[in-house]
Amino acid sequence: MNRKTHWERIHTEKEPQDLTWHQESPTVAVQMLESAGATLQSPVIDVGGGTARLVDHLVTSGYEDVTVLDVSSVALDYSRKRLGRASERVQWIVADVLDAELPQTYEIWHDRAVFHFLTDPGERRRYANKLYDALTLGGHAIIATFAEDGPDRCSGLPCVRYSPKALHAELGADKFRLVDSARETHTTPRGGEQRFQYSLLQKLPIA
Ligand SMILES: C[S@@+](CC[C@H](N)C(=O)[O-])C[C@H]1O[C@@H](n2cnc3c(N)ncnc32)[C@H](O)[C@@H]1O
Repeated sequence: MNRKTHWERIHTEKEPQDLTWHQESPTVAVQMLESAGATLQSPVIDVGGGTARLVDHLVTSGYEDVTVLDVSSVALDYSRKRLGRASERVQWIVADVLDAELPQTYEIWHDRAVFHFLTDPGERRRYANKLYDALTLGGHAIIATFAEDGPDRCSGLPCVRYSPKALHAELGADKFRLVDSARETHTTPRGGEQRFQYSLLQKLPIA
């Protein structure tokens, strides 16, 4: 099954609040936005944003340039409906991040639980290049993955687990500076625990 078919099926079969990764409030991401020095004028993209509530936080806080990208149109339809009229202030892109032709650059790239599904080294390199090209110079990426002691599978797919140091090395220590990191124990809707790491990385000029 290809990636799009897989994710359309997942988002069709389950209500957003029943998905294991469902989070009422994106607390760590919001803290990292502050650490990154994001302003309401900073263009922000949530990659693989799915049905996540980060977009609600951004729009209600007054962020003026918000994009949510996901391979699943079903997921983005949920988010659009939840936001109602406010959804008109968001750019919605249905695409695989690896293939997406992004229409602009961003000061903030957020990805929670998307990069860790890339088990193929070639796809990870494509993602790292896409991320680098999409960020403004000095822009920041907030990337949350399963931590080294987190699960090795999610929604029937294998995942790669990272420490902040390993994630930094994977994305390119010559291209990004690791500014900050945090751990989070996520409680799933059924009460299970999943350990995540969040890394805040800043784009460097290539020497
Ligand atoms: C585990 S969910 C996380 C969703 C959201 N980031 C959150 O924290 O609630 C992974 C999301 O990424 C999307 N996705 C997976 N691979 C993708 C890709 N290569 N490009 C774009 N979206 C992708 C899926 O449709 C799904 O919505």
